[in-house]
Order: sequence, then structure tokens, then C-alpha cells
Amino acid sequence: MERVFNFSPGPAMLPVEVLEIAQRDMLSWGNSGMSVMEMSHRGKEFDSIIQKAESDLRTLLAIPGNYKVLFLQGGASTQFAMVPLNLMANYKKAHYVKTGLWAKKAIAEASRYGAVNVAASSEDKTFSYIPELKSEMFTPDADYVHITSNNTIYGTKFTDIPDVNGLPLVSDMSSCILSEVFDVKDYALIYAGAQKNIGPAGLTIVIIREDLVGKEMDITPTMLKYSIHTGEGSLYNTPPTYAIYIAGLVFDWLVKNGGVAAMEAKNRQKAAVLYDYLDHSAMFKPTVKGKDRSLMNIPFVTGNEELDKKFISEAAKKGLMGLKGHRSVGGMRASIYNAFPAEGVKSLVGFMKQFEAENA
Ligand SMILES: Cc1ncc(COP(=O)(O)O)c(C=O)c1O
Repeated sequence: MERVFNFSPGPAMLPVEVLEIAQRDMLSWGNSGMSVMEMSHRGKEFDSIIQKAESDLRTLLAIPGNYKVLFLQGGASTQFAMVPLNLMANYKKAHYVKTGLWAKKAIAEASRYGAVNVAASSEDKTFSYIPELKSEMFTPDADYVHITSNNTIYGTKFTDIPDVNGLPLVSDMSSCILSEVFDVKDYALIYAGAQKNIGPAGLTIVIIREDLVGKEMDITPTMLKYSIHTGEGSLYNTPPTYAIYIAGLVFDWLVKNGGVAAMEAKNRQKAAVLYDYLDHSAMFKPTVKGKDRSLMNIPFVTGNEELDKKFISEAAKKGLMGLKGHRSVGGMRASIYNAFPAEGVKSLVGFMKQFEAENA
């Protein structure tokens, strides 16, 4: 079976080279005589795997020495609770920017543990833009500010880092980590579910500034304390070993392919091909305009539900899969993460042109 172009928002495409190495290593990793899935997480083989994964991630993102890297479970959704439980240390209050469904879920979870001020929202226009933020919105009587850097469902992203009045800035980077160059130092805590730009589902990456560790509320379950995981090098309990191994292969692939700067250049080119067509098409309309456009998730609609359905079904027959948009936006969405090939975007645009000509 030939591989398809999978536009799924996540789990998403992995580099073929990575899958081939995993295939080669399936029965025996190196000379170990066992699959990574069968190894003790405390053995020397797995130790070398997790150490290299962390070291490559540190190189890729130029993570400063005063930040800890954690390989956790529970998905980004568990971070919606871990962040307030660990960071609402002084004021039991945080500012959140509501830019989509995931931000709403983060807000709902944080509200269980403290006061949440929704500093700004773009809900009035179906989250199709990033609201303007001013430092005055972020009053100093709060423990942190939370943003969602890239909004997977609505296809928007923060292009500028908000001025948060010196408060610790926390970002959900699940759908954009490693896709564009950014400065880790601008953030106090970054988290990301792995299943879009990093590797298999089941792994969550957290990058946290050391001074924020160890201030959790008393009620925090042991497994949800950052201090427990930083203290044990992500090995407090059995971590998602196979997912960490694949993530490590992806980091190695990224390092060998020019790192994040090279990915960003490719991602900009890929996104430009699709946006350029959408801006000129008479049939397909982008749902986001201007500078807030995501490089990773590109939603578009025809305005006619039947036509959308026909397009999705005919695209699938051509090996262009996973294009159905989220139910809150409708239409289509092309998710084109790091590992998504440029030829796939060209194929999609070629098919859209043909479909437009045939259905005008
Ligand atoms: C921006 C963002 N945050 C959080 C999540 C939830 O992630 P998980 O399924 O890992 O809990 C997603 C999933 O798509 C997402 O895109």
C-alpha cells in the first residue's frame, strides 16, 4: 500500500526515515536483542535513549541550563490541571487568553483550583483571530499568564510574544513546537502533546524554568507535581518509553535536517502555497486572514456543506486524507506539520483547482 498524504490534526505524519529506523529496530535495538518496548526504563540502553532525546531537544530549541525538560504522560490536557496546581502559588489567580477550544478547556480546568481572569478573547468571531493584548491587561496580582501559541482547530497563531508585565508566561505549544524559531527564555513554562510535531501520542513535553518548580498546592496528586518529575529525571514511574524513543528519532531527524530554522523556512513555503491559492480561489475561502494565520493548521470552507462533503470524499479517493474540519468551524482543515511533505501541499492545491473547475 502506498503512503497517503495525511492532513490529520494529530496524531499526524511522522518522517518516513524515522518510521524506517523504528522498523529496523523493532526486534532488536542495536545489539540489545530486544525492542525498545521491552526494555527496562532504568537500564543503560534506555538511559542512553532518553539522554540523547533530551540533549537533541535542548540543542534544537537552545534551551537554557536553568530550564528542566520533562517527558510526561497524560497529554496536553493533563497540563491544563498541572499548570494551575503547580504555579498558582502566591495569588491563586492567573490570566488566560481565550483563543479557542483548547484555551477554553485550560480555563475550565484552572478555574477548579483558583481564580481565572480571561484577559482577552476572540470568541466573538469564532476564534478566527488573535486578540490584541496590552500589558495593562496582565495585572501583577496573578501567578502567570497562559496562552495557546497555535490554535489547532481555528488555524490561528500568536506572531508576537505578548508583553505580560513581567509575569511568568505559560504556553500550550502542542501544535507548533519545533515548527518555528522562538526564544525559550520568553516563557516560564512550555508544554506540548507529542502527537503533532514530535512523535506518538502518550508523550507530553514540558519545559519549565527551575524557579517555578516545587511550589505546588498541597492537594496536588504526586503524579501531577513537577517537582517529583524533575527530581527523578522523568523516571519517577515508568515513562512512555517507546514514545520517547520515537520522539528521540524525530529530534535526531530534525537536527540532521537543519534544525528548527530550516523547518520554519519549509513550513512557511508549504503554508504560502495553500494560502496563496485560497486567497485567489472563487470556491474555497480561508477562515483566517492576515498575520494571525497558522503555519500548521489551515482551515477553509466553500460555504456549501454538501460541496465540502463531496470535496472531502473525492480528495480521500486521491490519497489526500484527514481533511475534514473540526465541527465548530466546519468545512476543511489541512494540518501540515513539520513531517508533512511539500509535495502533499502541491497535490492538494492541484486537486482543489481541478475540483473547482469541475464544480464551478
Ligand atoms: C493546542 C492543543 N492543546 C491541547 C490539546 C489536547 O492535547 P491532548 O490530546 O494531548 O491532551 C490539543 C489537541 O489537539 C491541541 O491541539
